[in-house]
Amino acid sequence: MPHLFGKDDAAYWKTFDWNLAIEAGMAVAGEPYSGGSVPFSGEVGWMETVFFEPATQMVAPSGDAVECGSCHSRDGVLASLGGFYLPGRDGGAFDWLLWGLVGLTLVVVIVHGVIRAVGSKRRSS
Ligand code: HEC
Repeated sequence: MPHLFGKDDAAYWKTFDWNLAIEAGMAVAGEPYSGGSVPFSGEVGWMETVFFEPATQMVAPSGDAVECGSCHSRDGVLASLGGFYLPGRDGGAFDWLLWGLVGLTLVVVIVHGVIRAVGSKRRSS
């Protein structure tokens, strides 16, 4: 694990020294790096690799995009996952409680507005 950023000389992006950067990073990670045989020789090497990535960065075409209901439904793709609340899947009483709070908020806003309107009319007359 290399130590990449920082103001110290071991930071890779400051001195561009892989050996210093890896030595410091491995020390922080509590892992061995040098003082042994391969792979803890303290030497750095490189190997050629190939990486394929679709030009679309694996984003599906719009026609294949999942709908809200693909997850937010009882038989959706996340049906078997547990440990969290998913609106539309776990709903039941909790959803009704939340909609109740939305309705209550609306009622309070309307009542408050009416009281203020009536109050301002009384004051101006
Ligand atoms: C790939 C699955 C997936 C799709 C598709 C999806 N959601 Fe969700 N949505 C989730 C999950 C999982 C959560 C719960 C996140 C959590 O609790 O941290 C969530 C949470 C929510 C919430 C609760 C608020 C929040 O941010 O936690 C709302 C509102 C919501 N989604 C709306 C939508 C809408 C609208 C769409 C479609 C445009 C949509 N979701 C599509 C998986 C999905």
